[in-house]
Amino acid sequence: MKTNAAVLRSAPAEWKVEELELDEPRRGEVLVEMVATGLCHSDDHISHGDVHVSHLPLVGGHEGSGIVRAVGAEVHELEVGDHVLTSFVPACGRCRWCAMGMQNLCDVGALTLIGHQLDGTFRMHTDDGLDVATVALLGTFSEWQVYEQRSLIKIDKDIPLEVACLVACGVQTGYGSATTAGNVQPGDVVIVAGVGGIGMNAVQGAVASGAAHIIAVDPVADKQKWALEFGATESFPSLSDAAARVQALTNGQGADVTILTAGTVHNDLITEGYHSIRKAGTLVVTGVGPDQEDGLHGINAYDLAMLQKRIQGALYGMKSPNEAMPMLLNQYRSGKLKLDELVTRTYSLDQINAAYDDMRNGRNIRGVIRFR
Ligand SMILES: NC(=O)c1ccc[n+]([C@@H]2O[C@H](COP(=O)([O-])OP(=O)(O)OC[C@H]3O[C@@H](n4cnc5c(N)ncnc54)[C@H](O)[C@@H]3O)[C@@H](O)[C@H]2O)c1
Ligand SMILES: [Zn+2]
Ligand SMILES: [Zn+2]
Repeated sequence: MKTNAAVLRSAPAEWKVEELELDEPRRGEVLVEMVATGLCHSDDHISHGDVHVSHLPLVGGHEGSGIVRAVGAEVHELEVGDHVLTSFVPACGRCRWCAMGMQNLCDVGALTLIGHQLDGTFRMHTDDGLDVATVALLGTFSEWQVYEQRSLIKIDKDIPLEVACLVACGVQTGYGSATTAGNVQPGDVVIVAGVGGIGMNAVQGAVASGAAHIIAVDPVADKQKWALEFGATESFPSLSDAAARVQALTNGQGADVTILTAGTVHNDLITEGYHSIRKAGTLVVTGVGPDQEDGLHGINAYDLAMLQKRIQGALYGMKSPNEAMPMLLNQYRSGKLKLDELVTRTYSLDQINAAYDDMRNGRNIRGVIRFR
């Protein structure tokens, strides 16, 4: 069949909407008609050439929702008509990490950066005969898509798919960065540096954990204002301003938890974040920078050991998608998690480059493409 999709032919480059040929789902695969996809900064890192992929052309997008329209052989847990979210790490349920409750680190996920399906072949092809990769085994920037069944999370049909898509990356990643990676406790003083699509949900996670002070940091004035609506108690334009405020709040001890969710996290922000936390505090690194950048600097080993600080990297908020996404949707249903308010603007697929311009210019908490 034919589908329109946002394709990256080279990088750095803009997305180009093209009509592609999409194969039938094979064994263990599912055809989904997409309803919506969020525009996460991670796809922007790929189109900007900060993060490298091994096969181009590539269809981007990993924060999607849709409806199952056909299933291949040996698909037992999904049927036509099911509502699904995409998971950017498939969960095999059998590897060591899945068995330990860390499906976000499933070994099968390591294959998804390569861009082809798990059997080594591609489902998308250009008119001029090129195989097209899909990001994270997904590629949600497409009206229709074929997914590995383990990359899909079935959700209840009363949840609107137009907003549920955000749970597929931004909400789980941000919320878990506070609740699980940061292990925020009641009464904690928390800094969230960068309150876009991920960071706004770190604020929501800190609220759910009972933090006493949630200090939002963002250079964009609107983001600071919106963070207060999501439960931040104060906001500042820079991490150094927030760190100074926390010094005053804590008798010079520092933050219990600082979470880095800026669009691009360079090493100097990690160093600054490290110095903002208290003895035995936690620095959560969720946002990423260029994959070729040098290692950490400005963090002294003596200081790290003597002050017993923790630097915690976090993938997908350190939560298992199969457990976290239904839990988060339950929180939404009971009015404890904001989803509708995260969607600042919606776009058609053709407007994808304008939508990413809006993200880069700080106009959106999240922009969402609606396919219908
Ligand atoms: N670890 C993971 O599993 C995971 C998952 C998804 C996204 N990410 C990464 O998380 C980061 C955030 O993604 P997003 O979609 O929320 O991006 P976004 O562009 O929506 O939000 C980033 C925010 O950071 C702000 N910002 C920029 N520089 C800053 C600075 N120096 N200090 C404080 N704030 C600053 C921007 O104004 C913006 O509001 C990206 O690097 C993305 O690739 C990581
Ligand atoms: Zn993402
Ligand atoms: Zn696994």
